[in-house]
Amino acid sequence: MWQGDRVLEAVMLVGGKGTRLRPLTISAPKPMLPVAGVPVTEHQIARAREAGVTRIVLGTSYRAEVFSDYFGAGEDVGVDLKYVVEKVPLGTGGAIRNVVSALESGPDDPVIVFNGDVLTGLDLAGLVQAWRDADADVALYLTRVEDPRAFGLVPTDSDGNVTAFLEKPQTPEEIVTDQINAGCYVFRRSLIDDIPADRPVSVERETFPQLLAAGAKVIGYVDDGYWLDLGTPLAFVQGSKDLVRGIAPSPAVPGPTGESLFLDTADVAHDAAITGGSVIGRGARVASGAKVSGTVVFDNAAIGEDAVVSDSVIGRGAVVGARTVLRGVVVGDDAVIGADNELLDGVRVFPGALLADDSVRFSSDQS
Ligand code: GDD
Ligand code: MG
Repeated sequence: MWQGDRVLEAVMLVGGKGTRLRPLTISAPKPMLPVAGVPVTEHQIARAREAGVTRIVLGTSYRAEVFSDYFGAGEDVGVDLKYVVEKVPLGTGGAIRNVVSALESGPDDPVIVFNGDVLTGLDLAGLVQAWRDADADVALYLTRVEDPRAFGLVPTDSDGNVTAFLEKPQTPEEIVTDQINAGCYVFRRSLIDDIPADRPVSVERETFPQLLAAGAKVIGYVDDGYWLDLGTPLAFVQGSKDLVRGIAPSPAVPGPTGESLFLDTADVAHDAAITGGSVIGRGARVASGAKVSGTVVFDNAAIGEDAVVSDSVIGRGAVVGARTVLRGVVVGDDAVIGADNELLDGVRVFPGALLADDSVRFSSDQS
């Protein structure tokens, strides 16, 4: 826990478009999609607060108003929240630089930066302490993954100093480590001021390599606890399941952890089977005999009698017909899938789409 006399500040980067999560991100920015019932950002805020963070600046761009409408000044989440909106996306480094006017920290104070789309079990206070103990300029939270190619590779020497930063390596020769940037940093405040203003900057491709070249002290903090980037539908479903089952730690899960989570006003038939860390949203209905496993059902969606739905995301207000089978599918908001369909493995149904027939809409309205 931070014992200093100043506030401990964090910046959350929440301006990305979440293209790989379309069609879910058509209506909401990725960090605002609910996992285990609350937005990804709310889980992150709750974890940061637990570690002593008292003030958070959200660096927004795409659909900025969705964040402020939901969180306001932070009254309900127990931290002081500020918003900075980019007129055009400035990239990760540009977004960090762009929030300086909203920071209160002094030049040598630590400022924590989070990517807005990761779920972690990181010991955040430990990361800040490591930054302090090493008198570092920057401390990077690292984790180990089997296939690091979709991430930033971060080799370290035997003292834990970062020796290179290789974002999304293209060639086998570049795969020099299984340690990756896990999307959380502690910066000495003055280094944020030094990032060029008012043009796009990638913190991964530009700022970190430049700091290393200039001899800055950049340390790696490897934490092998829970870590997941929620960038794809499969990962999104996995993250929600892990939160519901208590595998991913978060004080913001709205209910006891277990095989399923029913949000307020969810209406689930007594003989429906809801398992595998599924979450059933507010006002959503699951009819008799339906089997739902490892699935995220958003608010006001409806699942028909004897439907079998696994490892899928069912968008807000969407309807799944009786006896329909869905496995590994993303159904956009308000889409209607008629009875007796089968959709498998990676199919994405766009918002409002109508598949097969809409008799299901009438029959579920009568129930
Ligand atoms: N404000 C703002 N403006 N935020 C942005 C912008 C921008 O222009 N571009 C991206 N972001 C936010 C995204 O919303 C996301 O929360 C975060 O920055 C990272 O962007 P992603 O698009 O999700 O990047 P990535 O997942 O491909 O890679 C990053 O994360 C990996 C770990 O999850 C990199 O930091 C990698 O090095 C890292 O390994
Ligand atoms: Mg990401």
